[in-house]
Amino acid sequence: MTLSDLNRLLASRYSCRAFRPDPVPKDQIKQILNSAARVPSWCNAQPWHVTITSGAETDRFRTAIQAEAATGTPCPDIPFPTSYSGVYQDRRRTCGWALYEAVGVERGDRTASARQMMQNFSLFGAPHCAIVTSPVELGTYGALDCGGFITAFSLTAQALGIATIPQAALATYSPFLRRYFDIPEDRLILCAISFGYADTDHPANGFRTDRADLSEIVNWVG
Ligand SMILES: Cc1cc2nc3c(=O)[nH]c(=O)nc-3n(C[C@H](O)[C@H](O)[C@H](O)COP(=O)(O)O)c2cc1C
Repeated sequence: MTLSDLNRLLASRYSCRAFRPDPVPKDQIKQILNSAARVPSWCNAQPWHVTITSGAETDRFRTAIQAEAATGTPCPDIPFPTSYSGVYQDRRRTCGWALYEAVGVERGDRTASARQMMQNFSLFGAPHCAIVTSPVELGTYGALDCGGFITAFSLTAQALGIATIPQAALATYSPFLRRYFDIPEDRLILCAISFGYADTDHPANGFRTDRADLSEIVNWVG
């Protein structure tokens, strides 16, 4: 494998916000999990655990989480960011506006942007959803290790032509997810990954995000 192969894979992945309903074969889901699990973790603890829905169970979950999002109280296991300021606010706005522009939401139209946000709870139409959890006792470092797993999951899936989107939005309703999937109290619910085959014609998949220049993210010492 060359760096250009890897860069092509990294550049081709994007967060998919419209899926076709076709299921992913289980042996391919297993391939993704086996490859994603090759990432490093502190002490090789491999803290990730995933609950994966398929078929009618994804649809049952979709209906249930949509109902929860309509009436439930937000209560993520890991507190969501309290604010985004400076460049973080700029980058957040830029990617939000790119999405809204792609799907035809006018700036300032809060009803339409809320409607687009609620698409999170339809899992963007994905045929599968993975709920990612980490042991409470491993704290932030467990979550850090799981971040690597989530990224590798997305890249491996992409290599197989399978689209993904990590979704912290679902963790808004962690107590509901815990009850629904019988997730033990000693595990933190980090986020979900919805996945399947991209609806490439859908406008929500018609934009790409950019990345900051190296000068913004590195201090060279020496
Ligand atoms: C941990 C994590 C949580 C995310 N949660 C959401 C989410 O709830 N809803 C959403 O639409 N995108 C979510 N995203 C996708 C990001 O918005 C996306 O990765 C970012 O804008 C960069 O775009 P790209 O993935 O297309 O390169 C999440 C990404 C990560 C890594």
